[in-house]
Amino acid sequence: MTDRKLLVTAALPYANGHIHLGHLVEYIQTDIWVRFQKMRGNQCLFVCADDTHGTAIMIRARQEGRPESELIADMQAAHQRDFAGFGVAFDHYGSTNSSENFDLCKEIWQSLRAADLIAERDVEQLFDPVAGTFLADRFVKGTCPICKADDQYGDNCSKCSATYAPTDLIDPVSTLSGATPVTKSASHLFVQLEKQHAFLEEWTQSGKHLQSEVANYLKGHFLGNPLRDWDVSRPAPYFGFEIPDSPNNFWYVWFDAPIGYIASTWQWCKQNHESLADWWRSDNTEIHHFIGKDITYFHTLFWPGVLKAAGYSLPQFVHIHGFLTVNGEKMSKRGGTQFQASTYLKHLDPAYLRYYYASKLGPRLDDIDMNLSEFINKIDSDLVGKVINLASRTARFAEPLGLSVEYPHDGGLFDAGAAVGERIAQAYEQLDYSRAMRLIMELADQANAFVENSAPWTLKKDPNQQIRLQEVCTIVLNLFRQLCVYLAPVLPRLAQQCGQLLQLEICHWNDSQTPLVGTAVSKFEHLLQRIAPEKVQAMIEDSKEIQPTTTEIAVTPQIGTTADSGDALLQEPLVPTCTIDDFTKVDMRVARIIKAEEVPEAKKLVKLTVSLGGENTRTLFAGIKAAYTLDQLQGRLVVIVANLQPRQMKFGLSEGMVTAVGPGGTEVFLLGIDSGAVPGQRVH
Ligand code: MSP
Ligand code: ZN
Repeated sequence: MTDRKLLVTAALPYANGHIHLGHLVEYIQTDIWVRFQKMRGNQCLFVCADDTHGTAIMIRARQEGRPESELIADMQAAHQRDFAGFGVAFDHYGSTNSSENFDLCKEIWQSLRAADLIAERDVEQLFDPVAGTFLADRFVKGTCPICKADDQYGDNCSKCSATYAPTDLIDPVSTLSGATPVTKSASHLFVQLEKQHAFLEEWTQSGKHLQSEVANYLKGHFLGNPLRDWDVSRPAPYFGFEIPDSPNNFWYVWFDAPIGYIASTWQWCKQNHESLADWWRSDNTEIHHFIGKDITYFHTLFWPGVLKAAGYSLPQFVHIHGFLTVNGEKMSKRGGTQFQASTYLKHLDPAYLRYYYASKLGPRLDDIDMNLSEFINKIDSDLVGKVINLASRTARFAEPLGLSVEYPHDGGLFDAGAAVGERIAQAYEQLDYSRAMRLIMELADQANAFVENSAPWTLKKDPNQQIRLQEVCTIVLNLFRQLCVYLAPVLPRLAQQCGQLLQLEICHWNDSQTPLVGTAVSKFEHLLQRIAPEKVQAMIEDSKEIQPTTTEIAVTPQIGTTADSGDALLQEPLVPTCTIDDFTKVDMRVARIIKAEEVPEAKKLVKLTVSLGGENTRTLFAGIKAAYTLDQLQGRLVVIVANLQPRQMKFGLSEGMVTAVGPGGTEVFLLGIDSGAVPGQRVH
């Protein structure tokens, strides 16, 4: 086999949120593939970057009162820390907000213009007069024009699934400010994808570049009709690159994001004295993109269209994976199952997750369910019980003896293991990691049967059996090492520890083909521990605690959704850490609303009389008029800040504050409390 030259990318994570275990399905999947390719002796470059532009970042930076540049720098540092923590080893990690990316966008844009692919026309969009910005679909809510369900997003209705334009919503409200948006017209620039229809049909349907289910999906959903023009510009204000030949217009985040793949490669080339053309304009380099199914459209229609028009290499393959669910359900912040990478790392070993994902990942687009008891069991029974067990039952005995100078007769075990190597390699190559893990565990089973039968712990006690003991240990440690070679793409640290134990580094796939003999054996150090179930529980608890008070926007992942996912999540960041003493200064109490009254002169306020138990009542004013009727309020329990300095208002004295979440207007949600609590109880 001749060595291949591969360029591998994983999707560029958004700079408006932290890495969670869902993202890691992709980064771990890709990292395993890259490590595998490198072990096979192929030249393989793994690049990624932060995806930094768009409305969501702009708004978040505004809320935090700091420049976008600062926000994205902090987020990038956090992302890189998380990736490193999970052993995801990029050769280069860049940013879409780089001069290289701007230069490339400009060059590619000129090519698109020259190919006559750009059109310009006016678009009516909702504009938030208070926030002073156009509103992406996800920042508008209102009543569905079809089924009249209220509280629906600007692009589709969660009740009747209708899709529509945000301008069609009845009574739209901006989720940024609560203001009523106005319709405003602005000129936008479009890529006329239809002009590349024939090429895209050919490329997507060739059977060479996409999983068959993806090719079929594109044929069924898009290619049967003329391809819609793609809106790639946004009027100011927008955080991104201003389009050089269209002042006051910016490239939409999804235009410059995939170009970030090239920009990141370019930065690596500059640092390593290589030519970008060798990677992006050469038939000798295979480009492999790894992405999740929600961003299929961008990578399989738009991106190949752009690359083709601009004269860059097309991807050899776009590998698409499914979504992570936890215990059978979509990850949820509220349920404490949207585990952040950093939270996981506080409690658990990254090797567990890498192995668990590998054991679940196949070449198809199926979703992957993280079942927490299965997670614990797999690590215990496979990794610790079958693999680590081999070393822990023999290494200590072997330390004073070293390995035999000749590889002993083992009944053909090592050779059989070596022979399976190509099948395991093929499974890795085809992204069928679960098959690779099964093949490896079958070998581990055979090795364990050998340990049981040979009982080194009995041999150890018999002075006449020391040669046999050395032979048994030599066999078992070689079988262990063979497994570590096969597992190295998934468990690089284990491979490294095995190298230390047997005093020869594991570097190449072929290290699985020849047994080690005559070497010394180092002192046995603990390799991997069993998972303590309390630690998994601790991670869950910890994930519940770091709930930021956010306006949560659920984006249902659907293959090929064209939703404006560049602007999906608007989060309110956490305020700096406070001590428990700081927290106890705030006295929050359960209270019952005993009277709710109108304040006729006030637009937003209602007057509440609340009871803290018995005769202890007080009066408060709360800005919840648009969100609750008086009837809904009367009699319910709320949580109030009871020791807030009383405030004289135009309408009377407010003696405390009712706690709630949400941006305001109709989007206010009072904090409730489970039944059983009684007025006057304190929040701890
Ligand atoms: N910024 C875009 C990608 C631009 S690529 C030029 C983006 N970012 S993301 O942060 O939302 O997602 C990054 C990757 O993680 C995507 O491929 C996405 O599909 C994947 N995942 C995000 N959540 C996921 C799960 N719950 N499960 C599996 N993969 C998930 O999209
Ligand atoms: Zn509807």
